[in-house]
Amino acid sequence: AGNKTFTMLKPDAVENGHIGAILEQITASGFRIVAMKLTQMTKADAEKFYDIHKERPFFGELVEFMTRGPIVAAILEKENAVEDFRTLIGATNPEEAAEGTIRKKYAASIGENAVHGSDSDENAAIEGAFHFAGKEMF
Ligand code: CMP
Repeated sequence: AGNKTFTMLKPDAVENGHIGAILEQITASGFRIVAMKLTQMTKADAEKFYDIHKERPFFGELVEFMTRGPIVAAILEKENAVEDFRTLIGATNPEEAAEGTIRKKYAASIGENAVHGSDSDENAAIEGAFHFAGKEMF
């Protein structure tokens, strides 16, 4: 039981062969996989998903990066899921991420940072529903 968060293993993590290791760290940290798939976002998908960042200088780069290959999208459940998952992945900039965090281990830069984690319960629900139908959530 618990509440939910939404994650994506980003194209860099998939290209570098880190799906298995990252999922192992996530499940070993007590998260239950509620929904999961390998998928690729279109430009239109990424522009919609990241709409809150559309005025940022890195928006074009972000959309380009997130659409360049497949991602693993997943909904995860745990008590205190949003906050605990953000602790597990570490700071957005891997240079600032704590030792042992997923971004510290697998991310190359602030742009190509291996993994996404929702920043609130409300956004977790919106982002999960963006990628999954009700019958794909278990
Ligand atoms: P995330 O928090 O998952 O979602 C927004 C993303 O924007 C963030 O991960 C980074 O990958 C990206 N991002 C944030 N800041 C920068 C930046 N300064 N340059 C490039 N990408 C960034």
